[in-house]
Amino acid sequence: MRDAPPVSISASSRQYGGVTPGTPPPADAPRVLEVREVTVRFGTKAVLEDISFHVPVGEFLCLCGPNGAGKSTLLKVMLGLLKPSSGAVLIRGEDPERGRRRIGYVPQRKAFDRDFPATPLEVVVANLRGTWPMRIRDDERTLAMAALTRTGAAKLHQAQMRDLSGGETQRVFLARALVTRPEVLILDEPTAGVDVGGRAAIIDLMAELSASESIAAILVTHNLQAIARCAERVIYLDRRVRAWGLWSELSRSPELRAIQGGDQAEAARPDAD
Ligand SMILES: Nc1ncnc2c1ncn2[C@@H]1O[C@H](COP(=O)(O)OP(=O)(O)O)[C@@H](O)[C@H]1O
Ligand SMILES: [Mg+2]
Repeated sequence: MRDAPPVSISASSRQYGGVTPGTPPPADAPRVLEVREVTVRFGTKAVLEDISFHVPVGEFLCLCGPNGAGKSTLLKVMLGLLKPSSGAVLIRGEDPERGRRRIGYVPQRKAFDRDFPATPLEVVVANLRGTWPMRIRDDERTLAMAALTRTGAAKLHQAQMRDLSGGETQRVFLARALVTRPEVLILDEPTAGVDVGGRAAIIDLMAELSASESIAAILVTHNLQAIARCAERVIYLDRRVRAWGLWSELSRSPELRAIQGGDQAEAARPDAD
């Protein structure tokens, strides 16, 4: 990888009117996802302001930023769970309600009810079917087992979710996201709350996905190792898009170097988001 000169995001931000220091994807590349001038307000408080970027087919994008930056809120808008105050998200040209079927989503780990009795096989089939499976058909089992095999979780398929480690749980949720053969994966801090060994395995898995040209991903993470292994492009978000470019261009910017602190904090606080 070429050694990139340090990028001063604040100087570049002024130069680019606050939007895109770094190299965005070519404008004519086919897009799997597009965010157009999205603003989200809760009451009078703007949590996201005028967010615009796009993700080409097959690109692995890391979305970084401090706690409270609006990252999870932006993902909710992409998934059609939250309507923006203004602006729009397009998934292959469709609104999130229709385009949602093209997305595989791995939510933040703290979003699950860990006491709910369920097996990995049921968790994966439920996403395939859209409802909880009382009986699993052979064709559903085949697809679910293929997804669990892909994430190294096949041997766990009959276990109880509550007995799985953090890393095993995330493998199951990655299989759940992949089983519908999405064009874009959205992952919200998948390594948070996972022990160091489990974390390395998840990063290996994501790096494999990153190398696959058919699937795009948007990964929210504080984990610098995950970014360095997986990211083609990076967005640094803090209410607005502060930087958008290649990881090789932005890795030395002060904002992204500060993520190092976030990563150590993540290691120290196993349940941090
Ligand atoms: N439903 C909501 N109502 C009011 N404020 C919210 C809501 N959801 C998130 N926020 C606020 O929006 C900001 C961004 O939150 P979030 O998107 O979760 O940030 P991040 O994921 O980057 O840590 C935070 O200040 C949070 O408190
Ligand atoms: Mg969040």
